[in-house]
Amino acid sequence: MCDYTGMSSHYDLIMTSGYYDYDSIVDHLVRFEEVGEVLEIGAGTGLVIERLAKRRPDLDITGVDLTSAMLQIAKKRLAAFPKVTTYLQNVVTLDLQSTFDLAFSYGGVWYFVPENDHFSMISHIRDEQANAEGLERISAHLKPGGRLLLGIQAPHHDYSRPVREKMEYSQRITPITDGFRKYYCLSDGDGQPLMEQTTDYRIYSFDAAIELLDKCGFEYRPSSGDDAPLFLEFGKR
Ligand SMILES: C[S@@+](CC[C@H](N)C(=O)[O-])C[C@H]1O[C@@H](n2cnc3c(N)ncnc32)[C@H](O)[C@@H]1O
Repeated sequence: MCDYTGMSSHYDLIMTSGYYDYDSIVDHLVRFEEVGEVLEIGAGTGLVIERLAKRRPDLDITGVDLTSAMLQIAKKRLAAFPKVTTYLQNVVTLDLQSTFDLAFSYGGVWYFVPENDHFSMISHIRDEQANAEGLERISAHLKPGGRLLLGIQAPHHDYSRPVREKMEYSQRITPITDGFRKYYCLSDGDGQPLMEQTTDYRIYSFDAAIELLDKCGFEYRPSSGDDAPLFLEFGKR
């Protein structure tokens, strides 16, 4: 199980200081004018949902995440939005009393990174069977014709960068069987860690990812005409 408790209290600072471009993520999501019910998988502290709910107050938005400490922050952030609901759930056993027009994950459970002329899929879930179960649970929660959007982000590499005065974020990547281990660290001006987290990820080749998604009821819908796509799109069969 992939737990973000270690990072939760510093997550917003790290992510909103250039790690993800939340406004562009939401620019993409609001294009789907016809959808009414939306699910975010791995909603974290609610940074995407907050922006989406502001831009599209008509949407019913549900967020799920398995890390209680992340979801507590999301609940506070999202308390003012009456059409937003969050649940502490592992996507592998997802069980909600609703179905959705659109499910998405950005940096959440599954995402894609460019590799040569293709993409690899990265999963927070290490176990093959659990990946299939999670995707099947998503499919079961989508309405007929529903869409699944999985985010595209830059490949992981080692680096350090200042986050604010006297604080530095750094990450280190180490290969492991079928994936990589990522060490996240936020340190103070004296180099003392304020936050440390180590997370193991699984890597799927593009073909293996498409095959897995296909088995779980999703067909790949390659996009056309988007120079810098932020999501890959899959349709529920
Ligand atoms: C990098 S954060 C992304 C959060 C959010 N989407 C954002 O853009 O800020 C990944 C989140 O996925 C959650 N997560 C990982 N595996 C999960 C699973 N199996 N079920 C539900 N949530 C999961 C983690 O707890 C973490 O909050």
